[in-house]
Amino acid sequence: MQTLKLKKSEFDFLKEYIYNNIGISLSEQKIYLVQGRLSKRLKELGLSSFEEYCKLLSDDIKRSELSYLASLISTNVTSFFREESQWRFLEKNIETIGLNKRLRIWSAASSTGEEPYSINMFLHEHITDIVNWDVKILATDISTKVLKIAQAGEYKTKAYEMLSKRYQIKYFTKAGLDTFAIKPFIKKDIKFRLFNLVTGDYKVFGGKKFDIIFCRNVMIYFDKKTQNELVAKFYNLLNMGGYLFIGSSEALTDIKQGFKLVSGSIYKKV
Ligand SMILES: C[S@@+](CC[C@H](N)C(=O)[O-])C[C@H]1O[C@@H](n2cnc3c(N)ncnc32)[C@H](O)[C@@H]1O
Repeated sequence: MQTLKLKKSEFDFLKEYIYNNIGISLSEQKIYLVQGRLSKRLKELGLSSFEEYCKLLSDDIKRSELSYLASLISTNVTSFFREESQWRFLEKNIETIGLNKRLRIWSAASSTGEEPYSINMFLHEHITDIVNWDVKILATDISTKVLKIAQAGEYKTKAYEMLSKRYQIKYFTKAGLDTFAIKPFIKKDIKFRLFNLVTGDYKVFGGKKFDIIFCRNVMIYFDKKTQNELVAKFYNLLNMGGYLFIGSSEALTDIKQGFKLVSGSIYKKV
């Protein structure tokens, strides 16, 4: 496939647009990455130049192209039970989280769904009387493409085989030749929604608060200012004593605000 040429002025436009609308800050060196990744999208749209694509974005009042753009610029890489040490921390502490058998959890960049499903499988494994608990998990992402996959809850054999036999049998059923589906009792507690962490309207949460927020492996793409603003919003959205889980390659250095680091990449609202 022939790659279309991205001019410096067009890259500058896209860089600013991506920063303002997705929060991802691209360095000047990323011009070839952007050119390569977006060329395919331009072809799909029947466009013959980046100039036309920039115009499409300028006219896109409803921001319907944003979801594709985000998928192409950031990575959707995820897996079941990613960041192993965090699950061990949860094992030790889960009984102390959630008042009166009520748990509210937000997977804030849920990608294709492995993270929220891992959360609910974990709760079913580690809370003996889970059926008596009131659990709600909100899973959001900027990309409609990954949300569709997450909602379907069907995964390739390769991903399924990463899990122990116990989990495979208890939480999955065979769906197709090479796919396994999450069982309905795990799906039912999870709501998938489109939400942009950077430009989203946080009023949609009303006064609702969470016991745990997972925001893993997305803040790494944001600059300090955006990270700062986001962490402040997470702080307000957590119950006192609630936890913020971030990716192990991310850190809240200088931006801890009211959070206390309690374990590698786990922060507690104190
Ligand atoms: C690398 S995945 C992380 C998935 C999962 N949290 C994990 O750690 O395995 C990053 C996700 O962040 C999403 N994302 C990027 N920018 C976003 C934004 N501004 N608002 C919400 N989600 C965003 C991407 O669409 C992608 O699915």
